[in-house]
Amino acid sequence: MTMKGPSSPVSCRSNNGAKRLLWSLIGACLVVAVIGYKPVVIVHGLFDSSWEFGELLRFINESHPGTNVSVIDLFDRSASLMPLWKQVEGFKEAIYPIMQNAADGVHFICYSQGGLICRGILSTLPDHNVHSFISLSSPQAGQYGDTDYLKYIFPEFMKSNLFHFCYTAVGQRISICNYWKDPHHTDMYINGSDYLALLNSERQNPNSTVWKKNFLRIKKLVLIGGPDDGVITPWQSSQFGFYDKNETVVEMKEQDLYLRDLFGLKTLDARGDMFLCSVAGVEHVKWHSNDTVFNSCIVKWLV
Ligand SMILES: *[C@@H]1O[C@H](CO)[C@@H](O)[C@H](O)[C@H]1NC(C)=O
Ligand SMILES: *[C@@H]1O[C@H](CO)[C@@H](O)[C@H](O)[C@H]1NC(C)=O
Ligand SMILES: *[C@@H]1O[C@H](CO)[C@@H](O)[C@H](O)[C@H]1NC(C)=O
Ligand SMILES: *[C@@H]1O[C@H](CO)[C@@H](O)[C@H](O)[C@H]1NC(C)=O
Ligand SMILES: *[C@@H]1O[C@H](CO)[C@@H](O)[C@H](O)[C@H]1NC(C)=O
Ligand SMILES: *[C@@H]1O[C@H](CO)[C@@H](O)[C@H](O)[C@H]1NC(C)=O
Repeated sequence: MTMKGPSSPVSCRSNNGAKRLLWSLIGACLVVAVIGYKPVVIVHGLFDSSWEFGELLRFINESHPGTNVSVIDLFDRSASLMPLWKQVEGFKEAIYPIMQNAADGVHFICYSQGGLICRGILSTLPDHNVHSFISLSSPQAGQYGDTDYLKYIFPEFMKSNLFHFCYTAVGQRISICNYWKDPHHTDMYINGSDYLALLNSERQNPNSTVWKKNFLRIKKLVLIGGPDDGVITPWQSSQFGFYDKNETVVEMKEQDLYLRDLFGLKTLDARGDMFLCSVAGVEHVKWHSNDTVFNSCIVKWLV
């Protein structure tokens, strides 16, 4: 028997194969009962805070009682405008101990801008143990739209001229500029974006290889979004689709970053570990409080 050995947790002295099998099964059952559901870490988005996730906590508690859920309370509200690398460092520090406490790994649910912060963590943390990375309406391929948020943050700009500001050193000190992607000024984006263009390896950088390797430690990538979001523009950015220079949306599988597998998307897809979930009729601020979204796109990945 190859399983025999002093270090095997389910080995027993008996040479009786059936008895040994029984003990293995009991052992396995105990492990499941003791460990239960993996802890869940939630990272919020632009202008919100850990307080907005009451419904999501309730959905998780009802479907998977006993799950330890941590909503990270950092960079709330206007502090969410701070540069994303800075936020990555802060969230990482808060989340790392949770990972270390979780021998069996954790799940991430990362909402809106939080989805980009989570990618920053996953790419730069070589020993993370994230199983499901659930990206909930997050501008993964960038943002380009005249939304209310834009008018509020940059009243003097429109989408067509924000590149003048965003792709400067001063602009990059504001989170939204870190993932602003003007399809008419791609060269400036690639040179000027200190966050998304690096994370995507659209700008060559010495960390690309190791970041890709780190990112690929996740077991599942779940990309949730929908056409009635109203904030993420184009909405397909939540699933790595984006505008070409005519502002026609090109889906993920035709994007250069997928085709060249710049940071691991194509590998994840080939592994069978990438899942897209689109739901119509959900506004941006409703993604985490809508039970249809939870039941059809989220719950099955929280095991
Ligand atoms: C989880 O649900 C149980 C009953 O279903 C309730 O007693 C408990 O307070 C809930 N916990 C949280 C954190 O919501
Ligand atoms: C939940 O997880 C946190 C972070 O790992 C830990 O400090 C806390 O004790 C856990 N709570 C329970 C009830 O297990
Ligand atoms: C590229 O970005 C750097 C640093 O922000 C800037 O100094 C330089 O002028 C930019 N180059 C071009 C061609 O835009
Ligand atoms: C690569 O990573 C190191 C350590 O995390 C960091 O100091 C450096 O700035 C990164 N390089 C780039 C180009 O981002
Ligand atoms: C963009 O539109 C122009 C003019 O309609 C067209 O000639 C060109 O092929 C389009 N480019 C792309 C990438 O679709
Ligand atoms: C959740 O979204 C679905 C799909 O658009 C919609 O039919 C439903 O009314 C929404 N539920 C709530 C509670 O808003």
